[in-house]
Amino acid sequence: MKDFNAIAATWDEKPQRIHLAAAVSRAIRQQIPLRTDMRALDFGSGTGLVTFHLVGELGQVTAMDSAEKMLDVFMDKARQCGVTNVNTAITGADPAVAEASYDLIYSSMVLHHVPDLDLTLRRLVAGLASGGYLALADLDAEDGDFHDNPAGVARHGVERDWLCRRLEQLGLHKVAAVTAHVITKQRQGRDKDFPVFLVCGQRR
Ligand SMILES: C[S@@+](CC[C@H](N)C(=O)[O-])C[C@H]1O[C@@H](n2cnc3c(N)ncnc32)[C@H](O)[C@@H]1O
Repeated sequence: MKDFNAIAATWDEKPQRIHLAAAVSRAIRQQIPLRTDMRALDFGSGTGLVTFHLVGELGQVTAMDSAEKMLDVFMDKARQCGVTNVNTAITGADPAVAEASYDLIYSSMVLHHVPDLDLTLRRLVAGLASGGYLALADLDAEDGDFHDNPAGVARHGVERDWLCRRLEQLGLHKVAAVTAHVITKQRQGRDKDFPVFLVCGQRR
């Protein structure tokens, strides 16, 4: 297991994470008609790098994570910025998502960490209210080179085409993928690109 509690206090210090979250937020805004009455869930929110871009365009936003210290940092940032339409929820390996409760569920860079991807997808889809949107960003399937430390990595990215098909099987429509960002890392002495998709769909 990767200990996200241990790195929560310094999570926001890596520019790569800041740029990625900004790009994912832009892609979500381009793909989904955000509204200030939307009840939203950021699944695997971490410190809220994505949420603090979007929170002004949404209603109540729940930041859910399995690492309590990530949520502590999230709430500290909300207090410092005077953001009041947010709350936090801790979850375990079985995602504690209340059914039919959200108009928007989004998540960035979490799917490759969850132990049971299919269970997570089922819980997230079930968490959508009628007409609600799901927006999932993660690494495209890669060869295992992305993480410097493989602890807590359950899979090397996710096949975006597989994810689209699975979400359709679970009942979403208008399912489509875009490339939200490309992370470039130095590997074996040269630049190596790791694309990040955003897959969106809507519950009927
Ligand atoms: C790579 S970080 C991404 C954080 C944030 N979404 C961002 O873009 O900065 C993955 C996050 O998912 C959380 N996480 C890992 N496994 C989880 C699980 N099974 N359920 C909920 N959150 C999980 C971690 O604690 C961590 O905050």
